[in-house]
Amino acid sequence: MYLDMFKNIILICFVLSINACGSSSSDTQEFSTVTKSALGNELFHDKNLSLNRTQSCATCHASEQAFIDIRLDAFGNISAVSVGDDGFSLGDRNTPMAAYAQFSPDFHIGARVRHQTEQNAFKNYAGALGGQFLDGRELDLKGQASAPPLNPVEMNMPDKASVVARLQENDDYIVDFTTLFGSDIFDDTDAAYAAMAESMGEFEKTIQFAPFDSKYDRSLTGAYTLTFKENAGRAIFFSQFANCGICHQLHAQFDLINRTKETFTGYEYHNLGVPENAAVRALNGVSGPDNGLQLNTGVDADRGKFKVPTLRNVAVTEPYMHNGVFRDLTTVIEFYNHISNRSEPSHQMNPETGLIWELPEVADNISIGELASGDVTKMDSVTEIENMVCFLRILTDAKYEHLIQEKGIICH
Ligand code: HEC
Ligand code: HEC
Repeated sequence: MYLDMFKNIILICFVLSINACGSSSSDTQEFSTVTKSALGNELFHDKNLSLNRTQSCATCHASEQAFIDIRLDAFGNISAVSVGDDGFSLGDRNTPMAAYAQFSPDFHIGARVRHQTEQNAFKNYAGALGGQFLDGRELDLKGQASAPPLNPVEMNMPDKASVVARLQENDDYIVDFTTLFGSDIFDDTDAAYAAMAESMGEFEKTIQFAPFDSKYDRSLTGAYTLTFKENAGRAIFFSQFANCGICHQLHAQFDLINRTKETFTGYEYHNLGVPENAAVRALNGVSGPDNGLQLNTGVDADRGKFKVPTLRNVAVTEPYMHNGVFRDLTTVIEFYNHISNRSEPSHQMNPETGLIWELPEVADNISIGELASGDVTKMDSVTEIENMVCFLRILTDAKYEHLIQEKGIICH
């Protein structure tokens, strides 16, 4: 009987020509076709694409923790900004997740969005939408991936030709690039460089960057039941009281199909009045405000605006805001309480410094209409802040749930 089964397996293998049935690796190679995303995976992890060969994309976007930079600062915390390939240059913006970046629409200006606020009034948003980087200066993932290798405070290569020469040091790349992009791809430096960036972008579109399997997602299918606190936080988040959804919601809650792919950002640009990160500025020597979107569009009314970030994995991607100025989610929520109602005496203190809130880095163009339309009293008790933190925690991909730190807030 066992022999019969064995024969059947052999027969099936023969009939279907399945080369996975114990074929040797050279057989498999013969049939394998390389994909752009598989090549992109290699490139994303290749330190040879930086000047001193110390740094790849993955150095600052580590798959172990939601594709952020998990290297530590002098105090043992995840660094607010990233060190470059030269070992000392520091960036000025907190490295965002590369996870879920694929869903940002191509950068465009002149977008119009209608929001319903707490008062049931509609507030129109007109302005920039989408793109990559916090100021949207690249159209899409391919455009984005072409920037870091040549950025002096990142991978620091002198020009595209030197990057393409590094690619050609690797025989496997030569085979893969010519298979995917044509036998003459290396004759044209710009085309070869663009092919590299495109492959990295394709890798960033694979499922490991967007599994949509958090407790929030599982609760939509009935596979997970929210705890009391998680559910209370969810209710406030989506309610017109806190108005988080004005900026951090892509699909309507009653849109049963699309809400399963919620990215927790509408990809608009807003200035929240976040303070400067003085500690970072003392180290990197950068001075003057980070004007955000204005650096991209040149429009004065865009000063201080940043792309609304996704809140997926936010519980494991500290520190927060464009410059990493806040360490804890409770501080972010207290900051919202403060900025949306600046005269309220109970919200005058930054819980991390124990001092009066620092002034906004850019005081113009703050989206105070959207921020103040929420009822701050819905978030200002300890319980309500904790509920919101519990909700934000359930947006963590299943593979990162073990990284969540309790920090004194227990959600079950
Ligand atoms: C030295 C650290 C560093 C390296 C190396 C690095 N990045 Fe980044 N990455 C950043 C920082 C910082 C930003 C935000 C910069 C800004 O907005 O101006 C960013 C932004 C991004 C974004 C945009 C995310 C968003 O929400 O807009 C993507 C995608 C990304 N990087 C992918 C890559 C790829 C691909 C590579 C390799 C080619 C790479 N990064 C190399 C630090 C780094
Ligand atoms: C007016 C639009 C707007 C509203 C309303 C809003 N946010 Fe934000 N949110 C932003 C923007 C823009 C940023 C990034 C700001 C920056 O970096 O300077 C941000 C950042 C955050 C961050 C930090 C994310 C990170 O990775 O650094 C959290 C957490 C957050 N928001 C939660 C909330 C919650 C909870 C609410 C409701 C109480 C809310 N937001 C309401 C626009 C908004």
